[in-house]
Amino acid sequence: MNSLKFQPTLGEPCSLLQLLCDERRACCSKKKLLPKFLLFPVGCAALPRGRSSSCPGVPAGLAVLEGPSMDTDPEDTDPDPEEYSRFGWPVPRESRVSRGATGHDLGSAGGGSGSAPCIYGAASKPERAERPAKCDVIQSPKIMEAAQKAGDRAVPESAACTVGARYSSAVESLCKDLEFVTGESGDVQLDPTLAYGAAALTFKDVSFELLPGRERILSPCSGHFEPGTLVALMGPSGSGKTTLLDILAGKKTSPYTGQVHLNGLPRNELFPRLTSYVPQDDVMFPTVTVKEQVMFHTALKTEVPSTVRREDWAKTIELQLRAVGLEEVQNSLIGSDVVRGISGGQRRRVSLACGLATGAQIFFCDEPTSGLSATDAEQCVRYMRLLCKKYGVSTVVAIHQPRQEVAVLFDHLLLLTSGDVVYNGKMTEARRYWSDAGFPVPDLVSPTDYFLDLVTPGTLDSQVDLFREFYQTSPKGKASVDELVDRELCKAALTAEELLEARHRRLSQFGDMPPLRSHSIYGVRFQKQLQKVFCRQVRLLLRDQQGVTEILVAMVQALVVGAAYIGIGKGEDAGYHQVGFYFMLVMTCALSGIKDVVSTREPGPGLDSEVPARWVEFGLYYLRECSGDSEGMSEPSFRVGLPGALGDEDDEDLHEKDSPSKKARATHKQGSGEVTMDSLRQLLWEQAQMLLDAQKSSTAQVQHALQDLEKRQSQRLDAVEAKLQHHDTKTVGIEERLLDLQDRLSKVEQGQGSAAGRGPDRRATLVFGGWKNQTRKNVLLHQLNSAITGLNLKDEFDSEPFTTGLRRSIALCNFKKREGEGEDGCRTRMLGILQAINTAKVSMDGADKPLWCSFSRSPEERGRAALAALVKKSVMRLCPGRGGDLEVEFSSGMTWIREDQLSGMGTAPREVRNPMEVLTKAGKGWIDEHTLAKWCEVDVAAIREIASEHRF
Ligand SMILES: Nc1ncnc2c1ncn2[C@@H]1O[C@H](COP(=O)(O)OP(=O)(O)OP(=O)(O)O)[C@@H](O)[C@H]1O
Ligand SMILES: [Mg+2]
Repeated sequence: MNSLKFQPTLGEPCSLLQLLCDERRACCSKKKLLPKFLLFPVGCAALPRGRSSSCPGVPAGLAVLEGPSMDTDPEDTDPDPEEYSRFGWPVPRESRVSRGATGHDLGSAGGGSGSAPCIYGAASKPERAERPAKCDVIQSPKIMEAAQKAGDRAVPESAACTVGARYSSAVESLCKDLEFVTGESGDVQLDPTLAYGAAALTFKDVSFELLPGRERILSPCSGHFEPGTLVALMGPSGSGKTTLLDILAGKKTSPYTGQVHLNGLPRNELFPRLTSYVPQDDVMFPTVTVKEQVMFHTALKTEVPSTVRREDWAKTIELQLRAVGLEEVQNSLIGSDVVRGISGGQRRRVSLACGLATGAQIFFCDEPTSGLSATDAEQCVRYMRLLCKKYGVSTVVAIHQPRQEVAVLFDHLLLLTSGDVVYNGKMTEARRYWSDAGFPVPDLVSPTDYFLDLVTPGTLDSQVDLFREFYQTSPKGKASVDELVDRELCKAALTAEELLEARHRRLSQFGDMPPLRSHSIYGVRFQKQLQKVFCRQVRLLLRDQQGVTEILVAMVQALVVGAAYIGIGKGEDAGYHQVGFYFMLVMTCALSGIKDVVSTREPGPGLDSEVPARWVEFGLYYLRECSGDSEGMSEPSFRVGLPGALGDEDDEDLHEKDSPSKKARATHKQGSGEVTMDSLRQLLWEQAQMLLDAQKSSTAQVQHALQDLEKRQSQRLDAVEAKLQHHDTKTVGIEERLLDLQDRLSKVEQGQGSAAGRGPDRRATLVFGGWKNQTRKNVLLHQLNSAITGLNLKDEFDSEPFTTGLRRSIALCNFKKREGEGEDGCRTRMLGILQAINTAKVSMDGADKPLWCSFSRSPEERGRAALAALVKKSVMRLCPGRGGDLEVEFSSGMTWIREDQLSGMGTAPREVRNPMEVLTKAGKGWIDEHTLAKWCEVDVAAIREIASEHRF
């Protein structure tokens, strides 16, 4: 074992490799140093096997590994600087082993001079290399000071003898690196030994609508994040942070508009291999330990050189856990409601560690700090910044309201409100932007708190519209972002494939690597996925009591079934029994797991996170389920037809044409897996609308049916009424005739009259009228009787009044000569009634005239009256002004105007020329139409026309 001596350089871990190279060049005669270094997926230390070293300067994430001794390797050759460069590790031409030597010294071989900077290595393209910003490492005075102090420390050689000691030093270094994270520009140096590429993220006009043309969740927004940038995605709750993050991370399965580019090129299927996503919810198996969880995820994301030992790898993971404050609980179970495990905040950090440990080039973290204490949150963000700055990765973090110390750690701020961008630029420039908008941040107020207060809708200070408008119109707002995006999209840089190749090349230097799976969407081979998933599954099975029970039950079952089939190979029916046995065996194995996959179980963490994250293939999930999911981590539950729920495609209900759930789910088909309160609300709203529509249409149907029924009933009633009227008329007629007959019979008996009658005696009949048209008989008689009673005339009547039809508006009443009455006694009584009624002017309901009463005339009287009435009608209609000159005598039918007689019964006097002769019920009559026409000053034809329609 050779001993490597060097002076550690605290705070400048990148120099470790340089030191080793230089030492090697100086001390060793051996060649080919590179293969003796091993690099872990997330920043691994590279040290030659067998070299003893004290490594306080080992950078964060570096692990010193054991490998084949170069002493024993006959192929070992001295490393050639060109060879380093070829593999993407630029090595300085001149060895520098000095206190305070920095990684920048090593890495800035090109960076400072403007040539290809270290981070991009040999794989960098010139265009991307033109970006100097991330490689121009600014020396922080803090770092220089710390390095100076560290250089003063002497490291005993003996301390570097064991791997464990080297790890301790590495961990120490990591913690010290964290201390340097201040948020200042250049607080942490880029580590060219570990950074393997640069991935810039650019997005243009990205927007999302829940339903096309309806609710807009995210308005079109654009942006560009340089490699190594820590981006804060901030905004009030529901502002669209997760939506934007999902779109950028390629996790959004619902349709959205806009494009997302990696290094200026549209994302392709390799994008998930270069990225890592920490979701808002922690979905993990409760019975794995923290360390196992992180190791599992890391192992599935990328291949590890074959020479890396398991325990070394585990140590690397421990570093990650320590950095996020989980070192003490690394062997604790994750836990759940039923399994005691780590706290919620710690679980959040496990999710974060899982994402960060995968060696991705871009991290997306959705609220990684929610549920953490302020101090823990700060530590996590510091660690993220450390990774960004040290390894050149970009990190986009959706975060709610970080405190001031945390906010300054971010380089970039994208502020959203109600789906609109209100700021997209550097965190350091946000204050000025707010001032320009007219809202300078007051002293002693946290800027991020102030920003959020102003853009949160519904608060007292809310200025949402103002800032939305300001972003659209300000030159520092949308205009500058669009310009930047257009500029960046024109630049060419490493493709996703080239980035993967760069990483693969880097790792290949430290051990045998399987061939690069440059076209696969999965980071590791299927065999490895299978091995990892299988091992974890067995472990989970054994840890779970229910799982153990299941195994025991299965064994007992196997014994029982086996016992039942003992000796099936013998006898005549052997073949028959064997076929039955094999059939049962195959069916049991094939079907036992399917029910768990497709029917009643909630999807477990495997499907929720591992499959979409491209860690394992779906087939493995199926195998896992078939092998028996024993964790008991999710209660069996029956699935409901929610939009976007998993497995919509398999739901038979969806094949029903126009089923409500089909419509609802078809709308969300693309968004499988995203069941949110809003989608539930939308579904409920749609179903409520459908119920209301159904209710409305059924109400209309019922109303229609009721109207039909009413119409039919009224027709029937009319028919019945008509019949009744008919019968009534008949009855009245019969009654009248009966009365008449009785009257005549009594007269005949008394020897006063003849048997041939002519109806009621008109001379002893009163006529009543004054009701509105169509008044029904019973109403009419009721009103007449009331009036008679009201006028105290009841006793004057000999009989009840009657009508001759149901709707005749005339009532009649017969009178008789009473005992003791004289010859005219009856007429006098009738006249009294007539006068009393006509002077009382009793008004009937709805009638124009009051109740009237008159004597009924005989036909002769009516005939004569009709003749006189014709003259009167003609005068009143044709020449009302002559009304005053007209004299009428109805009883004789004679009329005059001044000296001229105009009508009379019988034959007209001789002096009347060409009289109009008419036939009345009282006999012949005449009218002097010419004289009448002369008085009325009309043509005689007008008189004739009136006469033609007159009834005599
Ligand atoms: N698939 C979806 N279906 C229904 N609503 C959705 C969907 N995706 C997003 N939304 C709605 O869009 C809005 C923004 O959601 P998003 O999760 O992006 O907000 P957020 O800013 O991340 O909120 P929080 O800070 O609370 O996590 C919310 O009102 C949410 O209900
Ligand atoms: Mg969210």
